[in-house]
Amino acid sequence: MSPRRTPVDTAVTAPRAGATHRVHLTAAGVSLVLDVTDGRIPAIVHWGAALGVSGGDGPTGTAREPGTAGEPGTAGGPEPPNRSAALGAAALDALCEAAVDVVPNNAVDVPVRLGIIPQQCDGWIGRPGLTGSRADGSGWAPRLVTRSLHLEGRPLTEPHVETGPARLRVDLADENLGLAVALDIELLESGLLRLRAALTNTLETPYDLDELTLALPVPGDADELLDFAGRWGKERTPQRSRFTVGTHLRENRRGRTGADATHVLHAARPGLGFRTGEAWAVHTAHSGNHRHLAEQINTGTRLLGGGELLLPGEVRLGAGEQYVGPWLYASYGAGLDDVAHRFHRHLRSRPHHVDPRRPVTLNVWEAVYFDHDLARLTDLADRAAALGVERYVLDDGWFGSRRDDTSGLGDWIVSADVWPDGLGPLIDHVRGLGMEFGLWFEPEMVNEDSDVARAHPEWIMAPAPDRIPLESRHQQVLNLSIPAAYAHVRDQMSALLETYDIDYLKWDHNRDLLEAATRATGRAAVHEQTLATYRLMDELKATHPGLEIESCSSGGARVDLEILERTDRVWVSDCIDPLERQQMNRWTSQLIPLELMGSHIASGRSHSTGRLHTLGFRAATAVFGHLGIEWDLAAATEEELEELREWIAFYTSRRELLLTGDLVRADRGESALWVHGVVAADRGSAVFSLAAVGRSAESQHERLRFPGLDPAATYRLRPVRIGPRPSGLTMPPWMTRAAEEDGLLVPGAALTHSGLAAPLLDPEQALLIDISRARCTDHLPGPGGPGDPIERR
Ligand code: DGJ
Repeated sequence: MSPRRTPVDTAVTAPRAGATHRVHLTAAGVSLVLDVTDGRIPAIVHWGAALGVSGGDGPTGTAREPGTAGEPGTAGGPEPPNRSAALGAAALDALCEAAVDVVPNNAVDVPVRLGIIPQQCDGWIGRPGLTGSRADGSGWAPRLVTRSLHLEGRPLTEPHVETGPARLRVDLADENLGLAVALDIELLESGLLRLRAALTNTLETPYDLDELTLALPVPGDADELLDFAGRWGKERTPQRSRFTVGTHLRENRRGRTGADATHVLHAARPGLGFRTGEAWAVHTAHSGNHRHLAEQINTGTRLLGGGELLLPGEVRLGAGEQYVGPWLYASYGAGLDDVAHRFHRHLRSRPHHVDPRRPVTLNVWEAVYFDHDLARLTDLADRAAALGVERYVLDDGWFGSRRDDTSGLGDWIVSADVWPDGLGPLIDHVRGLGMEFGLWFEPEMVNEDSDVARAHPEWIMAPAPDRIPLESRHQQVLNLSIPAAYAHVRDQMSALLETYDIDYLKWDHNRDLLEAATRATGRAAVHEQTLATYRLMDELKATHPGLEIESCSSGGARVDLEILERTDRVWVSDCIDPLERQQMNRWTSQLIPLELMGSHIASGRSHSTGRLHTLGFRAATAVFGHLGIEWDLAAATEEELEELREWIAFYTSRRELLLTGDLVRADRGESALWVHGVVAADRGSAVFSLAAVGRSAESQHERLRFPGLDPAATYRLRPVRIGPRPSGLTMPPWMTRAAEEDGLLVPGAALTHSGLAAPLLDPEQALLIDISRARCTDHLPGPGGPGDPIERR
């Protein structure tokens, strides 16, 4: 056994490669401290609660206590970036030095450094961040060092930099191996962090890249892991496990984000809940093959990471060529709501983010499937418009020989059999009713029984000229990385967009990619295919300004932040059963805000589960999203249509709140009564849902709390009454009074802290509560009289 060593300072023992820089970025209650001692690879010394100090002799600031970012119990807006929340150079140095580990027995002779790209040359014995090689076998063990840093495009000359949200570019190189990496690190206004690496081959000989994965350290006591799995019709099912030695590796080889996507991988201190537990989370923003990982080595060091999953030979860099990896987004927060809010605030801050007045949509899929008939479809449009629907989407089946799912896919020409006069009569009718028009496409796919596949079998993705992958939903993948195939699809789509007044594309993608290669060469092409899809979306949006795109993939198999850079909503799942949607919507919103989630009211009996639900439960579930209808309205009763009209009116009157407010989830995730709501940014109004998702072992539910509201304000609570009373509804006295009178005034502190007695509901029933801040002329109820006037606030 080797003798025990004393700790050593890296500055003494590490090879001196370049200048030392220490950078502290802080925003919205989050700090990131980056150490580039002696020009070594950047290592994250701290990613978590804001570190800035206030008062004393240090620089002033408004830093929060660790673990309070986002303030559990409130949904207030993000803390403004605070450029004065600085530590000072000495403290920054001390922080970086204090993070240098001891050298344990039988280990390398200097403290191990976990770089953002982990490497063996720094003593890291876990998964390396960058692997690849040249034909002679060299290049697999890089030693990247920092060559320069730029902050917001300006070279960094100072050794210490502290600032608010900012973009940092670190240029790294291993000159001997001919590798250069441009690493972008961005702390956004929301406190969300994102990182991306681009690798350039600087030698003449080709470099085969196997993997480029970025890593972020998390504390050694972040013992809990939470990520997601699922399948068709049951996307984003949460799974929890312990963070132990080894790698929790989520590899995706589906060529799409996946119904079983990791979605968001969290590591958390014990007790992770919606509003409890300090959590660190990552999301790899990529719609092709990708990975997420949580790794612990035997020193106890833990990390979260992610990157693209490259197939063998997929990325071969010639001289001077560059590979750009996906963004790895990282969110820190106190509880799951706080983690989610950072993603939401970032998405909402983008200039191209959707208008919250999203049109109520009718999608005809579950109403007619492939049975396209002009009279029936115009009748559906009439019924929809009469209810207040604002957008009409014609789904699969309008083109080529597509009368079922076995043929015609890929022939984007209106079927003369079914639509002898083209789509014009339907579109004119829809527009005449004041609705927008949307059309379904599946641009990356073909049936073998299609004109395009017959004319160009070489465009089908396949591992060899004489082999073809297994069919899935009778279809194959069209290789958009072949320029002629790309141009063919683009031109057919553009022709339709030019001929007709189309506002919206439902962009579907109904199969995993198996053996997905360029058929003529056998070379894997998922990477190129993914980029070509992005290009095609970007090009169509650029040439058709205002066009919206929905990302659909057999339901919700393409939900990620990169597809959402060029699409305007996702279809959460093909399963519209509201009980299932309570779960899927709840967890889809861990990454994306409600306005990006397609959320429909379907027929009473679910087409995917066979369960029967009341319209009240279906609608109360669906209004927390971008609302749509997917139901053969001709089969609905007059009572149902009247109730549906009221739900749509309720939604349109509240949608700006629902689609801009902060999502809060107020139950503990274990009870039979799920409580979630949306609170306006100014905390002046909210809508909450009480949804019975099962039966409880206790005869009463826990008290209801409504986080996010202002404890110092007074609110009026009104149970929303649309349609028949929910079955089994037994109201506590406060609710009865609120229902009988014009709502009930309740102090904010009672809502946020002490809580209100919960009603009883039969399973699969829901009740909404409308909440608004009381006006100064309102009075709190007194025992007998009108009560005390509300203090002016
Ligand atoms: C799968 C989608 O998720 C459905 O909504 C529908 O568009 C079908 N594809 C059409 O084939």
